[in-house]
Amino acid sequence: MSRDILIAPSILSADFARLGEEVRAIDAAGGDWIHVDVMDGHFVPNITIGPGVVAALRPHTKKPLDVHLMIAPVDPYIEAFAKAGADVITVHAEAGPHLDRSLQLVRSLGRKAGVSLTPSTHESAIAHVFDRLDLVLVMTVNPGFGGQAFIPAMTEKIARLRDMIGERNIRLEVDGGVNPETAALCAAAGADVLVAGNAVFSGGRYRENIAAIRTSATKASR
Ligand code: DX5
Ligand code: ZN
Repeated sequence: MSRDILIAPSILSADFARLGEEVRAIDAAGGDWIHVDVMDGHFVPNITIGPGVVAALRPHTKKPLDVHLMIAPVDPYIEAFAKAGADVITVHAEAGPHLDRSLQLVRSLGRKAGVSLTPSTHESAIAHVFDRLDLVLVMTVNPGFGGQAFIPAMTEKIARLRDMIGERNIRLEVDGGVNPETAALCAAAGADVLVAGNAVFSGGRYRENIAAIRTSATKASR
């Protein structure tokens, strides 16, 4: 079976001096979701943007803003990202002791709730929160930076999560080191949303780059 594959270009690899224009460009080039990486210099060793930038980008696209929060604590900031116009809000399972509460908070604000796992976190960490989820995000690199190499051991985790999700209406997203080659591995394992930063933005041929990832993943999709 081939499931519908969504491509979510990560604006972490965009020109930050022209972010609005870059968002419009990846929208026009066929990106399905706009992936926004929020980093705090505490949960991950890098700092990016906050809710003010998300709000400023909101008028530049009608496509879903897929906001990946790499911050701890996360609960105090969820409402600000919801108000800024995030459609999907993903928190890390490792970001705090009360994941179930964080996910309830996201849904109480009318947003889709995602949970992300860093490479070393076992999938069993989220076994009891599936009823609170719209999306699972498997980090295929250690979060913090674009342009890192895909960690091959993550394909097994993706496959196990695909089985755990079963018939539920939950998207399975992958993030980190995704290019046409690794996209095929992820899709074959059961991923259906592919985040890509460098592989979309490098060389400036956004439409061709997105299409290459989509074609490769769609062919391999299980
Ligand atoms: C990494 C971020 C990713 C990153 C992916 O911490 O969560 O979204 O932008 O970049 P690439 O595709 O270049 O690995
Ligand atoms: Zn991300």
